[in-house]
Amino acid sequence: MSKTYASFVSIGAYAPEKILDNKMLEEMVDTSDEWITKRTGIKTRHIAADNEYTSDMGVKACEKAIERSGLSKEAIDLVMCATVTPDYFNMPSTACIISDKLGIHNVQAFDISAACSGFVYLLSIAKAFIESGMKKNVLIVGSEKFSSIVDYSDRGTCILFGDGAGAAIISATSDKTKAIMDVHASADGSYGDFLVTPAPGSVHPASQKVLDEGLNFVKMKGNETFKLAVKTLTQDVKNILKHNAIESHQIKHFVPHQANYRIIKAVGDALKFDDEQIVLTVDKYGNTSAASIPMAINDIYESGRLKTGDLMLLDTFGGGLTWASALLTFQGK
Ligand code: ACO
Repeated sequence: MSKTYASFVSIGAYAPEKILDNKMLEEMVDTSDEWITKRTGIKTRHIAADNEYTSDMGVKACEKAIERSGLSKEAIDLVMCATVTPDYFNMPSTACIISDKLGIHNVQAFDISAACSGFVYLLSIAKAFIESGMKKNVLIVGSEKFSSIVDYSDRGTCILFGDGAGAAIISATSDKTKAIMDVHASADGSYGDFLVTPAPGSVHPASQKVLDEGLNFVKMKGNETFKLAVKTLTQDVKNILKHNAIESHQIKHFVPHQANYRIIKAVGDALKFDDEQIVLTVDKYGNTSAASIPMAINDIYESGRLKTGDLMLLDTFGGGLTWASALLTFQGK
């Protein structure tokens, strides 16, 4: 019997209309366009409307990915959403809500929580489901309304994050040349306190104390996260390239998590990637967590840079701490 492989067949993304730029942030906290640009490379981020939720953005990204795959909705047999800003904490899952809004019923649907690594974690799960023969066409989506957990009086975090969604279809194929080659996903919970949203949860259920102390907002040890991110991302890329006997010059598009330009630059330099190989969207979207990687892939797709068969290397890290990398060719049209 021939082996079944998982193939990345389409991409879609969505960024909300409203833009929050550095000048606007200058009015909100003690910061400057110059500081933000120099330390992060971020110029603007997109912010969802009050009545626009994580599932709504996810649906818009999924619709594009489905349309571009040429598949009917009926062909999709698994829907997974990566998010740390779900519509509800935690029932129903955002994947269930997205499936319903798309009109995809009676298929398995669930969320995962791996912060910014969520989309690449989903790739590993989709790959496993497909290679085992359990599913044929998997819809994966990273969607975040990060503005719902950001404290816009905390200059250490509010300058970094934005909202958005990105989705992809992963399909079964018997053609090994079209396969997702490898996905590495890992975590180290001992660094859990680097990035935390303390409430609501079983530790701090909703209460007046939660509101008074702002425990519902993301807290971050920025500088510690920065240093660990550079180290982890660099090592992770070295490992996956070595494991697959691939040299960095063979990669057409290096798509790193879009957290901070300085992190991307440090990793890119350490791995000797040319500027043309590195995909950058952090300037316009900021850090959109689980949506960051698929939004970046969508960007090169829509600008015509991404062609069928191009070799991509994805690399990400996030709260948990989690990290993940993937080697794959783009098999969309
Ligand atoms: N404007 C002006 N000054 C600021 C700002 C700001 N927005 N934020 C911090 N500062 C100040 C600090 O108070 C500090 O002042 P001090 O020296 O008087 O104490 C000074 O700038 C330096 O602070 P650092 O935190 O050391 O600055 P750093 O160069 O590390 O930059 C930043 C901060 C941008 C947050 C950086 O550390 C970073 O990007 N870290 C990585 C964060 C990250 O990637 N998080 C996402 C993980 S993914 C996920 O799962 C969500």
